[in-house]
Formats: sequence, C-alpha cells, structure tokens
Amino acid sequence: MKILVATDKPFAKAAVDGIRGIVEGAGHTLALLEKYTTPQELYSAVEDVDAMIIRSDKVTSEVIDHAKQLKIVVRAGAGYDNIDLSACSQKGIVAMNTPGQNSNAVAELAIGMMIYMSRGCFNGSTGSELKDKTLGIHAYGNVGKLVAKIAKGFDMNIIAFDPFVSKEAIEADGVKAASSIEELYSSSDFLSLHIPATAQTKKSIGLNLLKLMPKGACLVNTARKEVINEEELVVALEERSDLKYVTDIAADNQATLDQKFQHRVFATPKKMGAQTAEANINAGLAAASQIVKFFESGDTTFQVNK
Ligand code: 3PG
Repeated sequence: MKILVATDKPFAKAAVDGIRGIVEGAGHTLALLEKYTTPQELYSAVEDVDAMIIRSDKVTSEVIDHAKQLKIVVRAGAGYDNIDLSACSQKGIVAMNTPGQNSNAVAELAIGMMIYMSRGCFNGSTGSELKDKTLGIHAYGNVGKLVAKIAKGFDMNIIAFDPFVSKEAIEADGVKAASSIEELYSSSDFLSLHIPATAQTKKSIGLNLLKLMPKGACLVNTARKEVINEEELVVALEERSDLKYVTDIAADNQATLDQKFQHRVFATPKKMGAQTAEANINAGLAAASQIVKFFESGDTTFQVNK
C-alpha cells in the first residue's frame, strides 16, 4: 500500500523517520508532501495513495474526489474539523484521529500563554502571578485535564465545565465542576478553551460570556479560531480595557486586534500547540501504527466517521 504524509506544517524529522520505519517495516511505501502551497499539489499527490496521514491539512471533497484509491485518512492530532467526514463516508473511506497524543504539548502551551499574558508579554512591567487565581477549563477532555493537572502545581483554583463529562468525573480530579457555562465564565480569571469546532460551538464564545469574566480576566485559546465570535470579541475588548485575549490560532481579524489592543492581545505566528518533537512523534507514529493495523486486521478503533 502507498501511504502519504501530507503536511503543510511538517512533522519534526524524528517523527518522519519513525513513521517511515513503521510504514516500510510493515511492507508499505511512504510518500511525503511537505510545505505545499496550493490545493492542486495535494490533489496530484493523493491520486494513487491508499492511505494518508495529515495534520491541520484540509481534506475537502475535492481532495477525496482526486484520491481514487484512498481507504483511510488519519489526522495525526485531536481535532478533525479539517476533514470532510461525509465525503469520506460516501466513498467508504475511514477517517481517524489520534486522541491524546499531542495533548501535553498543547496543555503546556496554554499554561505558557497564561504566564506570558500575566507578565505583560515579557515587556519588563509589573505583572501578576497565577497562584491563587481561578482557572476555568471549558471542555474537560484530554487537553483540559492536563491543563488542570499542571495548573494545580501553580496553586491555581480550578473549575471546569463540560456537558459531556459527569460532575463526579471532574470532581474526582480535585476540580470544581461548574453547573453552567455562565458560572464558569464568571468565576475564571483565566479561561482556557478546549472545545472542538462543531456546528454547535462555532462562534459560540462571544460578548454574553466575555462580559461575565472577572476584572483583568484573560481568555486563552489553544482550540480553534472558529469557536470565537470575532466581531463580539472586538466589542468586548473595546468595552473592557481590562480584558485580555491570547491565542494559538490567529483570528481572521488578528491585524485589527493587534493594532487596537496592543499588549492585551497576542497570537502565535503559526499554530504551535502541538508543534513539539515529542507531540509530532507521539501523534505521527500513532497515525502510522493505526494505518498499519487497519490494513492488517481492519482495526477501526479510532474511526470518527462511524
Ligand atoms: C489538534 O487538533 O491536534 C491540534 O490542533 C494540532 O494541530 P496541528 O497538527 O496542525 O499542529
């Protein structure tokens, strides 16, 4: 079988070497398409492949149409909002993710961003500490749990809200379970977002929630830009000169935000939450192993388009 690694944002070399080892060790062939700049390059690379490993690369219905032999696509990472799942299902293509494999890298970045913002973007001014502040975790999945675990080491108070996780499961970790999203936002000096981008969550974080946050609060987004109502974020930042926003996924209106709200807004130049050698190795090798298992035994454990 021919397995393509298509990554606009390439994996670390050690991860690519590891993927090659797994793929070729199982008797398959590896093809590599890195740093491509046009969808056409992806269209021609997928023509004759049986499997694909991707990151945030967009697998649209056009990509699927060109991939005549494709049987499986694995998103080396958590969020699979970049894959047209119904186009995959229509063609009988299995889509998977590799949950949890890059979570630690994202969680560490979320904490790093909180420190960066509470220390005035490292500009030498007097800042504040994380200790004794309340950290709200919006969605208590793999990343949210790790953020909570690390934040405990900073002596933060932690509160989480996740309608899909029971109060008991949250409180078993020593984290307060918020009974409503409003309670979460009104309690959180820092609010770390870990919700996926779905039809229900897109644009769901807006003025009504931001205006509830305590004085000096900071919204931390290592999730997806799509979950933010960007127009309302501007209004919230205009109405409240104390509010801060830090993100690993630049907003569509980032240039406006940067210009209007200097020192209160920061975006990484390119999504870097999962961009560590360790996360690349964990997620990339997991993706390769999942594909090998799928071809060996039909294993569909991490299928997301069931
Ligand atoms: C994920 O969903 O796993 C993260 O957003 C990482 O995305 P990336 O592989 O593009 O860095």
